Amino acid sequence: MTWNPGQYLSYEHARMRPALDLLARIPLTAPGAIVDLGCGAGNVAQVLAARWPQARIVGVDSSGAMLATARDATLGDARFTWIEADLGAWTPETAPDLVFSNAALHWLNDHATLVPRLLAAVAAGGALAVQMPDNFAAPSHAALFEVATRPEWRDRLARCVRSNPVCPMTDYLRWLAAASAVDLWTTEYMHLLPGLDGGEHPVVAWMKGAALTPFLAALDDDARPRFIADYRERIAAAYPPLDDGRVPFPFRRRFVVAMR
Ligand SMILES: C[S@@+](CC[C@H](N)C(=O)[O-])C[C@H]1O[C@@H](n2cnc3c(N)ncnc32)[C@H](O)[C@@H]1O
Repeated sequence: MTWNPGQYLSYEHARMRPALDLLARIPLTAPGAIVDLGCGAGNVAQVLAARWPQARIVGVDSSGAMLATARDATLGDARFTWIEADLGAWTPETAPDLVFSNAALHWLNDHATLVPRLLAAVAAGGALAVQMPDNFAAPSHAALFEVATRPEWRDRLARCVRSNPVCPMTDYLRWLAAASAVDLWTTEYMHLLPGLDGGEHPVVAWMKGAALTPFLAALDDDARPRFIADYRERIAAAYPPLDDGRVPFPFRRRFVVAMR
């Protein structure tokens, strides 16, 4: 899967907001060791470093392109270590005080196994803090899955369609039974995406930086624009612009903070 840091970061401001909302609810004063799972381009890890300047931060991600951007942005800052690995298999060598993950764990299935495993990896007194998009039922995602399973596309794209890995809140409560305290919530943000020069629909541009990634990677250069055109048609109907050209884009996100 080929991630594009430039495309992803084009909505950095809107994508940073949930990371900041999660950060605000982590009741740790001075974690010494932090792991940022699915750290991407490292922009959120830099915010973690600003809040806890003494912390050592390990960012883990499977995308070499995202990690290259993270490394460039933190060159010479010995607090950061960047590791290329699959989160499904990765475990820390020593228990971190904070296991943090913003907008990444929804790429992994089987949260019933993943979530207790991550909590168990945290040092005593530490925290697991996670934010995940919970938007699979929204038109942005439903339209993607619907177009990908049409006869024209399903041979190449049906394997990219996933069921929602983000489960009901009560499941997370059960999976976090070993925690000394938990804080769970869902927020629906109303992003107002500016109109784009060149005419791309802003929701399509947003999705190109994230959920569309595996679909586009599965297509060749000829097919990709045709698939995007089919998807764009559905998205334009579902997300019309306001009179001023901005496009309202509601987006639900799930938050989990669990203390060891
Ligand atoms: C939407 S980006 C979020 C990046 C960053 N956490 C942020 O908030 O800006 C999701 C990241 O998760 C990474 N990712 C997805 N599945 C992964 C996996 N199985 N193992 C490691 N990283 C993964 C992707 O490479 C991507 O960089």
